[in-house]
Amino acid sequence: MANPLVLSDNMPGTAKSFDEALQILNLEINQVKVDPSALNLSTSSNTAIIQGYFSSFQTNADFENARIKIFGKNGVITTGFADLKQVPPEIRPAVGNQRKELVAAIERPSSETQKRLQQAVLDAKLNTEGVDVTLPVREAAADIGRVHPITQVIDELTAIFADMSFSIAEGPDIETDDYNFTKLNFPKDHPARDMQDTFFFNPKPDGSRLLLRTHTSPVQVRTMLNQKPPIRVIIPGRTYRSDSDQTHTPMFHQVEGLVIDRNSHLGHLKWILQEFCKAFFEVDSVKMRFRPSFFPFTEPSLEVDIQCKRDKGEIRFGEGDDWMEILGCGMVHPNVLRNCGLDPDEFQGFAWGMGIDRIAMLKYGMPDLRAFFEADVRWLNHYGFRPLDFPTLAGGLSA
Ligand code: DAH
Repeated sequence: MANPLVLSDNMPGTAKSFDEALQILNLEINQVKVDPSALNLSTSSNTAIIQGYFSSFQTNADFENARIKIFGKNGVITTGFADLKQVPPEIRPAVGNQRKELVAAIERPSSETQKRLQQAVLDAKLNTEGVDVTLPVREAAADIGRVHPITQVIDELTAIFADMSFSIAEGPDIETDDYNFTKLNFPKDHPARDMQDTFFFNPKPDGSRLLLRTHTSPVQVRTMLNQKPPIRVIIPGRTYRSDSDQTHTPMFHQVEGLVIDRNSHLGHLKWILQEFCKAFFEVDSVKMRFRPSFFPFTEPSLEVDIQCKRDKGEIRFGEGDDWMEILGCGMVHPNVLRNCGLDPDEFQGFAWGMGIDRIAMLKYGMPDLRAFFEADVRWLNHYGFRPLDFPTLAGGLSA
């Protein structure tokens, strides 16, 4: 049951502090529980004082403290109305109503203050964390990275050959002696095998040995063993030879081409290579030189040079009277066709192997091949390509 009513001398509404106002509120609640018509809690002058306090809190701590003292588990309103069940039933609804209105009356300034304080915290943050618009613009991640020229060139040449309806074939970097040499008509123990300074793995117990492929040509074999003519593929990839100077590195890149059909001939080959060079170097005509040569896997065999100018270590494309060898090619040797299960009386074709690094150097004026593989960020920043400028079949080559 409610405490006996004790009205303090300074009632109503003359509290000198927030805590005093709470004490008065407590007394007022007790009074209402006895006689709800005696006063209206939500409009009493003491409640106005409490509302005033709530409107004026300047810190979250003060506000929270006060809120707990009124609404918390041991708060004045919570405990003051805890014994509502013991209030005589005839006045209970009126007391309950008073509580509801009192809660609403104090919550109003309370929630406004809460918003005001949250806004103040935000304002303070904005003031201290201001944006300095004079700072230089930070580059987006996609603008910082660069595409390596080799990747770029592989994509360019893939797009060009795809336009001529070539598809792409691939094979492993670690090859068998059989695919890298024997099936390509390199006779056993023939000095031709030494033409290509090969990195061999240790022999297996059965005497066979794996190697790092010295050219992309073994993928010709893999392709012919797996596909029926007509065949029209290009094979870009890494190749390895123990060789190193300004234009040779132990790892380099080739793109192999292979066309097998019933009537494919050297005229087709020459046209394809010329069209490729025009598209790749983005010119109307390219001076190319076809020289007779020798490869075990082609007959006849040719080497192709492209006109360039060497000037104080720089290589420039399309001028001067120097020549740079960019590829070997020829008609696929009948023995190779036979080794790959094709009848040379029925099928014939041509193939080529082109140095990707070489044509990249020529197109983009990069004098030293070794720099390609040194992973020097300054070099890459200079010669690399922006990812979004990447050429595509749809976007064009010089996007
Ligand atoms: N595989 C040769 C090399 O690496 C290049 C080559 C020559 C490839 C003639 C061919 C070809 O497909 O027909 O030196």
